[in-house]
Amino acid sequence: MLKLTRYVAGFALIGRVLHNERGALLSVLAAFAMVLLLAGTAEYLLERGGQPQTFGSLPAALWWCIVTLTTTGYGDAIPATDLGRVIASLVMILGIAIFALWAGILASGFAAEIRRRDFLRTWTLVARVPLFKQLGAQVIAEVARLLRPRRLPAGAPLMRKGEPGDCMYFIVDGEVEVALEPKPVRLGQGAFLGEMALITGEPRSASVLVRRATQLLTLDIADFRALAGQHPELTSAIEAEAERRRATLHP
Ligand code: CMP
Repeated sequence: MLKLTRYVAGFALIGRVLHNERGALLSVLAAFAMVLLLAGTAEYLLERGGQPQTFGSLPAALWWCIVTLTTTGYGDAIPATDLGRVIASLVMILGIAIFALWAGILASGFAAEIRRRDFLRTWTLVARVPLFKQLGAQVIAEVARLLRPRRLPAGAPLMRKGEPGDCMYFIVDGEVEVALEPKPVRLGQGAFLGEMALITGEPRSASVLVRRATQLLTLDIADFRALAGQHPELTSAIEAEAERRRATLHP
């Protein structure tokens, strides 16, 4: 049963999140322990005379306190003194605050870990595209932030002639077919497509169908412009290829 934890990916993710967020989680745990000790001691001193069965010893008062912190007061044992009730109210409110903090830390930890994992995956895919391969790791990381991975099965239509184009694609692996007359053109690993509509603002010049299961990286039009501003050498290589393709469309 315990071996299962090694093979289920979700458990590894939980482990990494707990490890990454251990500092923040331990700080909240320390706050939890402080509230427990202070409130438990106060209730012991205030309530031990009136309710010795619940508050008669420090461990018993601490037990009451821990149950109150984790269940926001279960109602069958309540302090009899006014100050004891004020402290119990504070303990219940702090119980909610402490669990809200833990939930918040874990939620943001999970989101950060998933973002990191996705970024790493995109980074690896970007580094496999020849156009980006020559760039340093720093620039690949910048470009990876702009690209989104997309996987399509064989037979899926990628774009249709005449529709507006708002993104372009880089092929990491697989193969697509551009429906050109008289002979269709196949594009494979390392090629890019869909750039013409972004550059000219015209509708898609041809329909494209996925021939083999294909891993793509998508670049939206706004990010294409951002890339042109940051790395003009990249977009001028894309523009040169678009120019060559346009010439074959309208010789
Ligand atoms: P776009 O016009 O946005 O959409 C269709 C895409 O097909 C086009 O961009 C190019 O990326 C691609 N394409 C058009 N003509 C050719 C060609 N001759 N060779 C390779 N790809 C092409």
